[in-house]
Amino acid sequence: MKPKRSAANYLPEKRSLKSLREAAARCRGCDLYKAATQTVFGEGKARAKIMFIGEQPGDSEDRAGHPFVGPAGKLLRRAMVEADIDPDGVYITNAVKHFKFIVRGKRRIHQTPRVIELQACRPWLDAEVKQVKPDVIVALGATAAKTLFGSDFRLTMHRGETILSSPWAPNIIATVHPSAILRARDDQTRHREMAKFIADLKRVAAV
Ligand code: URA
Ligand code: SF4
Repeated sequence: MKPKRSAANYLPEKRSLKSLREAAARCRGCDLYKAATQTVFGEGKARAKIMFIGEQPGDSEDRAGHPFVGPAGKLLRRAMVEADIDPDGVYITNAVKHFKFIVRGKRRIHQTPRVIELQACRPWLDAEVKQVKPDVIVALGATAAKTLFGSDFRLTMHRGETILSSPWAPNIIATVHPSAILRARDDQTRHREMAKFIADLKRVAAV
């Protein structure tokens, strides 16, 4: 049987965050590398206690080559500070390392990655978790949560719950994606969602 195409074929023999990042820059484990500018690997403190997992780089991240540097990232950092989490002390990454989009006029519109793309990219995430060994993983949004808990996971049912003793980390918590807060239909909803998000992060800080 032909081996399934995935990032697994690109993992370096000797594993460190540095060697992983270098190898991921050359990954062709699925087709997403073709249209994207570059691989956006995770970044942050090497032995961070808290690891945040988003969905995939957005337009700004694809251009910059760094995770969560656009509007969603700014909101995430603001929420961390409000929750007494030092943004420089965490590790931040994504379920998928290349930006998936369609072009509409001058804009590149985000596309949710497919399950086969999540699976193809998963070896990078596995390797990052193994290196960082966080005490808590925070899944930002449904895509990250499904990567960790399987595709049956429903964020609306489990939001903010601490899920103990998974193979990934001693504690895992799922919350909304910061982009969802940015997309709120009005200011009142946005403020309410931001407050709930900060409350979830405070529970993370307490762990
Ligand atoms: N949204 C994500 O999920 N990840 C990023 O890096 C930026 C925006
Ligand atoms: Fe490799 Fe992931 Fe990029 Fe696909 S999305 S090419 S698996 S790094």
